[in-house]
Amino acid sequence: MEIIIQANPEAASGIAARFVARLLRAKPDAVLGLATGSTPLRLYRKLVQEKLDWSRVTTFNLDEYVGLEPGRPQSYHSFMWGNFLHHINIAKKNVHIPDGQVQDIPDFCRRYEEQIRAAGGIDLQVLGIGTDGHIGFNEPASSLASRTRIKPLTNRTRRDNALFFENESQVPHHVITMGIGTIMEAREILLLAFGKNKSGAVARTVEGPITAMNPASVLQMHPAAKMVLDKAAAAKLKKTAYYRWVYENKPDWQKV
Ligand code: PGA
Repeated sequence: MEIIIQANPEAASGIAARFVARLLRAKPDAVLGLATGSTPLRLYRKLVQEKLDWSRVTTFNLDEYVGLEPGRPQSYHSFMWGNFLHHINIAKKNVHIPDGQVQDIPDFCRRYEEQIRAAGGIDLQVLGIGTDGHIGFNEPASSLASRTRIKPLTNRTRRDNALFFENESQVPHHVITMGIGTIMEAREILLLAFGKNKSGAVARTVEGPITAMNPASVLQMHPAAKMVLDKAAAAKLKKTAYYRWVYENKPDWQKV
């Protein structure tokens, strides 16, 4: 795993935006996996400013709440279109966000996996991380081989996400999420984590054991995973000096 530590979320998001921009310039029909939550907002703002050509890009979002109408402001459909997709020249038919209102959830999840495969697989998956180590909404004890499916949220995640709702009781209990096996098939992973409340999950993910109790730790098995952190999220890592040295002494051809 490559660990990139920056002074603040702004600088970290700038680096993440450069990784995405580099991919799109090299592969104009790239397939991107996208995340929601407060963490990737600056990344999306920067990508809008970059004025890239999104006309041939395909996107797949990680997850969606079950039971929220797509028009509700808390739905991830609203989040993605409001914060990003309406501001770029992406073709609507190329945007895929799980539908939290479908009747037959297993059938929808199977088709979502098929659509990812038919698009040629995900080139770059953007991820956040939960305070409990979840990626997508794969909560602790999720199978590390899981595929897109329905998942119940832990109380901790519902509490963390309550700030987007009027109160915690309104946070749905269930979501549709890409599985950990699905995420691991992306060719590159770009995980962003900011703030001191993420520092425990980040340290366990980078320097702890691989365990389903901390789902993000599976990224240790991914051949091309980057974590872009601000200082606060990196605060509990032990080998910070080494990670900084590696990043600052990259050969020119590896720099973005
Ligand atoms: P956040 O969520 O970006 O709102 O902190 C991250 C996550 O739950 O994956």
